[in-house]
Amino acid sequence: MKKANLIMLGAPGSGKGTRAVALCEILGIVQVSTGDLFRNNIKGGTELGRLAKSYINRGELVPDDVTAAMVKDRLSKPDTAGGFILDGFPRTLAQARALDEILGELGGEISYALYLDVPDGEIVRRISGRMICSECQAPYHREFNPPKSEGVCDKCGGKLFTREDDMPETVQKRLEVFRSTTLPLVDFYKAKGVLVEIPPELSDRGAVADMREVAEKLGLCAR
Ligand code: AP5
Repeated sequence: MKKANLIMLGAPGSGKGTRAVALCEILGIVQVSTGDLFRNNIKGGTELGRLAKSYINRGELVPDDVTAAMVKDRLSKPDTAGGFILDGFPRTLAQARALDEILGELGGEISYALYLDVPDGEIVRRISGRMICSECQAPYHREFNPPKSEGVCDKCGGKLFTREDDMPETVQKRLEVFRSTTLPLVDFYKAKGVLVEIPPELSDRGAVADMREVAEKLGLCAR
């Protein structure tokens, strides 16, 4: 059985968050979402939040050094020792190299980079119906994954909201940035022999069943 230190790679709205949450449930490991970390800082009114907001609302990436320092701090916390899923990091080659350094210092390595390859049309459909929990950040979709009670998170009862960067113009910009800057990471992790492509729709059984199948195939162990 292999320890699960995972990366979730994919375009905005490809389902990284949904699948990361499912894998954490299955494997008992921790989700580290840079988008959620930034949004928590924005909500908390921190200096990092103010800086991040100016990039996020334009659909641009937050600078590499700021993002890598935030991830290093998060991966240094003891709850990641049993395994983690990086959701939305790395997103540039510089971040991927920074991650190698961080893991070298902390004494770990990436087991797999899971790549969700989803067509653009499907991405726009997914993002346009997305709602997020304001408390636990769980993602929902008006059509594909609605909450049991309208506007309320099934998991924690938090209020659901639509992200500011999910406006159509900003989504187009985020997709362009993904293609030009993040997509080269597919080859980077392929060359390291850890890339696993996750088909757009494994089945109709939902994210947990899909990810259980992936975890079993890869021999990832539950804690
Ligand atoms: P981040 O929050 O990471 O956004 P993102 O990568 O653009 O990804 P999303 O959260 O939009 O989508 P997702 O792939 O998680 O999809 P989800 O599961 O929600 O980053 C936001 C911003 O922060 C960035 O633009 C950047 O500015 C900054 N940032 C973050 N990380 C950074 C970094 N490393 N460096 C620099 N800047 C950084 O699914 C989408 C919807 O589809 C949901 O409604 C879901 O319910 C639905 N859905 C999911 N799967 C399916 C399915 N199989 N079928 C139907 N519907 C589905």
